[in-house]
Amino acid sequence: MLPVVARTRADLKSALDGAGTISLVPTMGALHGGHIQLLKHASALADTLVASIFVNPTQFVPGEDFSTYPRTWDEDLRLCAESGVSVVFAPAVETMYPDGTEGGVTVDPGPLGTVLEGKTRPTHFRGVLTVVSKLLGLLEPEVAVFGEKDYQQLALLRLMVRGLCMNTEVVGCPTVREADGLAMSSRNRYLDHEQRKQAVALSRALNAGLARASDGADAVLGAAHMVIDGAPGIDLDYLVLTNADLGEPVPGHEARLLIEGRVGTTRLIDNTGLTLGR
Ligand code: PAF
Repeated sequence: MLPVVARTRADLKSALDGAGTISLVPTMGALHGGHIQLLKHASALADTLVASIFVNPTQFVPGEDFSTYPRTWDEDLRLCAESGVSVVFAPAVETMYPDGTEGGVTVDPGPLGTVLEGKTRPTHFRGVLTVVSKLLGLLEPEVAVFGEKDYQQLALLRLMVRGLCMNTEVVGCPTVREADGLAMSSRNRYLDHEQRKQAVALSRALNAGLARASDGADAVLGAAHMVIDGAPGIDLDYLVLTNADLGEPVPGHEARLLIEGRVGTTRLIDNTGLTLGR
């Protein structure tokens, strides 16, 4: 059965009448296997599964791909139907930003929003947190499910619900990968044949680092750099090792290896969890 499509706050109110508890998967559409996993996971967590599809203008920094971001509505709706989504919330920009997208009330991500991705995309996380806080306010979901591929986003969303005393639980799901290891992403469709082959170097670098986890931080970073520094077609932005909360890594504890690189004009990110040796 096709999901109910809610475009306005009034639509949403009537679509959710008697819905019980809600699990929400916020998306910008262009759904892929990673989103399907999020939907599958979320469907078991509450009475009613809702997906939002909204290409959020405020999280794109000037010069980024807001106008060309893939919009695949019919296919998205089909995938939502197959994944058991009851309601798709697909608002207009005016519904989400009644006072416009410039200025107005926003959510400040704090210091964690200024590092890694936040360094090259200074207003990105403010846009993400602002739109997700609006979605949580409108839908009041029990849980909201996000992918670990956007690890910094996930960490900031967890900080937001904690710091702003929101009632929604933020749940993370493991990254879904193509057969050769490339993390699934809506932006992978920008890659041409050659770039698609080159892009796999990101996950290869992470795996090389992961394989040296028991030897400690220097070994992890050294092995990952060996792969990525010699990889053709990759313009590396960062390769860093942190603890699970994106702070300093600690020997003997859970850590995260994160990478961002540009392939052509396409910015790709990936990360992996690992346990560091002492
Ligand atoms: O991860 C995304 O697709 C977006 O950043 C999100 C969480 C839907 C907010 O627009």
